[in-house]
Amino acid sequence: MIYEDSDDVQPVLQEGTGYESGLSFEEASLKRFGYQVSDEVAEYLSTVRERPVWKQIPGEVREMIRTQELPEQGFPFEDTLAFLRELILPYPQGNGHPAFAGWINSAPAHAAVLIKPLVAAMNPNCGIGDHAGQELERRVVQWVMELCGFPVADSAGVFVSGGSEANFTCLQAARYWAAQADGWDVRKEGMQGSRPPYVLYQSDQGHFSVRRSVEAMGLGSDAIHIIPTTPTYQMDVEQLSQRIRQDLNVGQRPFCVVATAGTVESGAIDSLDELADLCEEQDIWLHVDGAYGSFGILDERVAMLFEGMKRVDSLATDQHKWLSVPIDCGCALVRHGTLLRDTFRLTPAGQDEHEVWMSEYTMQRTRRFRALDVWSVVRTAGRAGLARAIANNNDMARLLARMVSAEPDLELVSSGPLSIVRFRYAPPALYDDPLTLDRLNKELALEVQRRGKTLLTSTYFQGKVALRACIVNYMTCASDILTMVEEVIDTGASLLSQINN
Ligand SMILES: Cc1ncc(COP(=O)(O)O)c(C=O)c1O
Repeated sequence: MIYEDSDDVQPVLQEGTGYESGLSFEEASLKRFGYQVSDEVAEYLSTVRERPVWKQIPGEVREMIRTQELPEQGFPFEDTLAFLRELILPYPQGNGHPAFAGWINSAPAHAAVLIKPLVAAMNPNCGIGDHAGQELERRVVQWVMELCGFPVADSAGVFVSGGSEANFTCLQAARYWAAQADGWDVRKEGMQGSRPPYVLYQSDQGHFSVRRSVEAMGLGSDAIHIIPTTPTYQMDVEQLSQRIRQDLNVGQRPFCVVATAGTVESGAIDSLDELADLCEEQDIWLHVDGAYGSFGILDERVAMLFEGMKRVDSLATDQHKWLSVPIDCGCALVRHGTLLRDTFRLTPAGQDEHEVWMSEYTMQRTRRFRALDVWSVVRTAGRAGLARAIANNNDMARLLARMVSAEPDLELVSSGPLSIVRFRYAPPALYDDPLTLDRLNKELALEVQRRGKTLLTSTYFQGKVALRACIVNYMTCASDILTMVEEVIDTGASLLSQINN
């Protein structure tokens, strides 16, 4: 009640604007700044090819970014924009550039970039309430299902921050389902009771985000039983079946198989149909980590590899990978919609006062309007446009593999079925020197990065360091692939001559 008697409080009687706080601008400035920003965006996006893929942040720039004082009084917006132009925009990660193939990070689709200010201007909480934001998300999640060949009827899904959270969301549903089938409530009782240890299965090519989820769920990473892969890097279903039998024999509770549709190392897609047969027979939840590869189904030449997708229990997808939606956006899809809701809802079933809120499908209560980003991309490109971009990436990966195979100083490690290619700089003179080859390829990835014409990363796989190209940029064309090959050969030769001298 301090305020009641205070003379200092001056109630604002006229219409509030917020101008004096710096948190809002009057209409003319809004328009002027808005035009300036859109000019900046258009310039940035249309000149991306002319800039280096990656450029080291100069020491003094790094220093200026790090030592900025906390502003006591706000700066004019023009000044903020100038800071961005000079100190931030010239030093991107590189993923907008068509010759970038470093990690599985795509370029943003232009429609989604342009729509961003509207998403922010509306700023709805897409976790609660009755508004267009939640309504749109309900529908766009179904579009994602349709794009991935995931059944729509009775399923539910929700946009999340990315593949890691999508896996986490689906795995929580899987665990809830298994506990329910075993007659207990994991949400209430946690993993505290003395019950058969819950175990799940992932191939040796599976992504580490699954381990993080399992750790966060209190199962402990020992609960993940790693299954070896076939020569095509797919989970060996026979070995999986044997392992499940062994685990049952020693009193463990196999509750989930985590398949991958598009492994991060080679793009391999596990045999979903065979896994679905086994999971049905053993009454185990089949989850698919499709963070990278699930939209690969849009390339009709490889669509048959996704056979069985209709039979899986859950699917993690990433819109910020192959759909070119700006970071961050993933989507968790679950076949049993009510079950997903039961995994997260806070009101008891049967006491619903409103239609399902999207926050009842996930951990997050206040949620940004990711659906508008996805909607703008899918609506502008259409299924056909997305399919063309993805098929082109797969074609570029094939081209890269062919060019690598034709070069005597390069060795192809793996290629296909999607858009990841691994290869090494391996001149014949070094065949008998694996340590130098490893050192060379590791340094090569960094040096190529520094040179700025392309960007690849190195990876350690089956005892060897290799270069990995992940092609997910809708602009990548044959000349970018040629640049990749030329840069690797040229940089490799120059590093080798330094080693030899
Ligand atoms: C197969 C796979 N699963 C999960 C993830 C994690 O996705 P995110 O980085 O969006 O959290 C990735 C990321 O590359 C991935 O390739």
